[in-house]
Amino acid sequence: MFSLEKIVRKNIWNLTPYSSARDEFKGTADVFLDANENPYGNLNRYPDPQQIKIKEKLAKIKNVSTDQIFIGNGSDEVIDLAFRIFCEPGVDKALTFSPTYGMYDVSADINNIELIKQPLINDFQINLNQLQPYLDDPLVKIIFVCSPNNPTGNTLNTDDVEYIIENFEGVVIIDEAYIDFSSKKSFIEKINEYPNLIVSQTFSKAWGLAGVRVGVAYTNNAILDLYNRVKPPYNVSVLNQDAVLESLHNFSDVQKNIDIILEERSRLKQRLASIKKVNKIYPSDANFLLVNVDDADKTYNYLIERKVIIRNRNKVINNCIRITVGTPEENERLIEALKNIS
Ligand SMILES: Cc1ncc(COP(=O)(O)O)c(C=O)c1O
Repeated sequence: MFSLEKIVRKNIWNLTPYSSARDEFKGTADVFLDANENPYGNLNRYPDPQQIKIKEKLAKIKNVSTDQIFIGNGSDEVIDLAFRIFCEPGVDKALTFSPTYGMYDVSADINNIELIKQPLINDFQINLNQLQPYLDDPLVKIIFVCSPNNPTGNTLNTDDVEYIIENFEGVVIIDEAYIDFSSKKSFIEKINEYPNLIVSQTFSKAWGLAGVRVGVAYTNNAILDLYNRVKPPYNVSVLNQDAVLESLHNFSDVQKNIDIILEERSRLKQRLASIKKVNKIYPSDANFLLVNVDDADKTYNYLIERKVIIRNRNKVINNCIRITVGTPEENERLIEALKNIS
């Protein structure tokens, strides 16, 4: 049986969190002399520590309640806080499926946590048979499931992911940074069903706000409470909150851009398929394509010389490059450059 108390670090379970001025008084008033702010200037006030306006908008779009939403300084903060809440440094472990997003590894290292990396098999799917011993290991506190996965681009099988959530007594974080480009369903609708589920999304990809640094975790109220206790009090700036709010008000523009990127993804795929040195284009549920070429290092350097930058993933997946879907013009420039490679 899953018990939150059993998997949370003792010091975090017993933590008395910081209570900011804006936590203690939330109403409207005429004179604010409570937060040692400067009375002059445009950005002189601290931001809303609970980002409630964003949560109210997001709750409607995602069909959840505001107390199931955590707003972070990028999803990297969602990942880092998970280590700090659940994993005792030097003792506990976490697990993910490789190849995947590199920050799980770096964040684990920073927090002095061993990250077990289980290789994906058969077109980058989870090997459930080999996973079983880890599901039963009480020191494994978090499993990161990146779906759609970076850099492979595919969505992981829903049944496998559900099996993990149901049979693991730690927390499962499904990183859905690319879910808006996928035809598969988000796991957000399962957060009421599973007490050990956190779904992480971001404004950096489909919303086009990577510069703003805002990530989101959807989870139950008990886990949310832990996140709120551990996060820095004012973790999302006024400027960042405003940028997100503006985007939330223009949701239809975001949807239009996603549609364009999806069209471009299939066009780019077709164009790449006609290039001689391209051997395989992997199926993608994300805004990038993983492509196997004759010589990834050579292709990468050749493109750099032509001022076109892609990601060389040769060290992770043999002779593979990862290409982000750009504008039609940018994609055409890439194709033209690739056509001329000798
Ligand atoms: C799978 C995955 N998760 C999270 C992130 C980072 O998201 P954010 O910009 O919200 O920190 C990335 C960025 O590339 C990613 O690929």
